Amino acid sequence: MKGIVLAGGLGTRLRPLTLITNKHLLPVYGRPMISYPIETLRRAGITEIMIVCGREHVGHFINFLGSGKESGVKLSFAVQDKNNAGIADALSCAEDFSDNENVAVILGDNIFEDDFSRSAETFTDGARIFLKKVKDPERYGVPVFDRTGKKIVRIEEKPKKPKSDFAQTGLYFFDSRIFSFIKKLTPSKRGELEVTDAVNQYVDAGMMEFFVVKGDWYDAGTIESLLETSIKVSKKESAFFPKK
Ligand code: G1P
Repeated sequence: MKGIVLAGGLGTRLRPLTLITNKHLLPVYGRPMISYPIETLRRAGITEIMIVCGREHVGHFINFLGSGKESGVKLSFAVQDKNNAGIADALSCAEDFSDNENVAVILGDNIFEDDFSRSAETFTDGARIFLKKVKDPERYGVPVFDRTGKKIVRIEEKPKKPKSDFAQTGLYFFDSRIFSFIKKLTPSKRGELEVTDAVNQYVDAGMMEFFVVKGDWYDAGTIESLLETSIKVSKKESAFFPKK
């Protein structure tokens, strides 16, 4: 499976920090944020990785990461021309790179403690998403379960009244159908092509499965969560970044 790290967007929730540089290059404890999702993919055995980012900061990413050799991975870079077009639009920039293979997609501001190598090995087709119980589900994509509580009937993006207390984390495994699903999307109320709407197409087709993440998980996309994530990581850095 190939890996794709989505590191575009305007980072509006992190202004003024993001007026200077890209959100995913801001520090999370001792490292630029993007180091963590790259490490999550590497630990899952996924070493051929494309970084998708906006045109303003692509040079910064290349300066920091180079070929990926020091991180134990092989990197390529793609530029998303319209920085505010959404996660699904950013993902569509990696279609040629995916070359019809399955892909592991991770958002550049998502910090995971778990090791996903077993999950990556067993993924064959459809879509696989990863959930985490949270106190503030309205910040995220939130699954709606059927009466048995075992099946997801849809994911709602940032619902005002969440129907469960789970968040859809920013790690997704997709088969090559993802790119044709993205082509069918129309912009959401916030004017973006939403990854959640693409996941819902897999749900409708009965091709989506989910797992619950056991270890810590953070979305470091706001000032409060950036600080909280840094503090949490500082207490057990080796869990997030095990010695190679
Ligand atoms: C995005 C997704 C959302 C998901 C979250 C995880 O939110 O749209 O479904 O729960 O990442 O980090 P955004 O970063 O756009 O607020």
